[in-house]
Amino acid sequence: MKAPIILATDTSDLEIAKQWARLVAPHITGIKLGLEFFLNFGAEGVRAVCADHELDLFLDLKLHDIPNTVGQAAAAVAGLRPRFLTVHASGGQAMIAAAAKELPATEVTAVTILTSLDEPDLIEIGYRSNALDSAVGLAKLAISAGAKAIVCSPMEVAAIRTAIGSKPAIITPGVRPIDASAPLDDQVRTMTPLAAIQAGASYVVIGRPITRFWNQGEAAFKANLAQICEPLLDR
Ligand code: C5P
Repeated sequence: MKAPIILATDTSDLEIAKQWARLVAPHITGIKLGLEFFLNFGAEGVRAVCADHELDLFLDLKLHDIPNTVGQAAAAVAGLRPRFLTVHASGGQAMIAAAAKELPATEVTAVTILTSLDEPDLIEIGYRSNALDSAVGLAKLAISAGAKAIVCSPMEVAAIRTAIGSKPAIITPGVRPIDASAPLDDQVRTMTPLAAIQAGASYVVIGRPITRFWNQGEAAFKANLAQICEPLLDR
């Protein structure tokens, strides 16, 4: 059994990304490759990282444009067979539906509210509700338009799970294993991976708590990974 973790592959070094994929593949569910990676290495880079590993691809491109453009962009990555492809929920129903139509085998994954935005930012942009209510509303809209998964902050998982039911996947970044000595990096309101799963998340995205061990060698990387996976396997 694999832990419900998706590795945030935040590196601009293709070789390192390939090594990380090789090491985590037996233990965790998926690998997240984002816009920076895609712009640096393209579809070929994605194929290189995913080749020969049983890892689900979480292609985090956060598409947001008119429906036709997003539909065509989604079609352009169909050959990579992403399990998840992200779009911004605020792009609206028609845009989400256009992506879902092009990729029936992919879980079109709607990003609700970026956690980098605080409440004053949301008012400035024009949102009428607070972050939690806006995220719940966007999640419901996205699912009704054909999204099969939602990305949200761990603080919003429970409310969104209640709102959308048990079927859609909920994926959350911003989690940190319990380890008083480990830095929070730039994450602020964090939850442990287990607490996020218990609140209703299907998968947690974890980056630096795993990847920072890379410089300490393969044995240390694997030992730390096992420690992070353990509470999620032991449920
Ligand atoms: O290293 P860390 O575990 O903080 O990585 C989390 C990953 O999730 C990063 O790739 C980051 O960009 C992404 N993310 C996040 N918070 C969000 C949305 C995405 O940390 N609200």
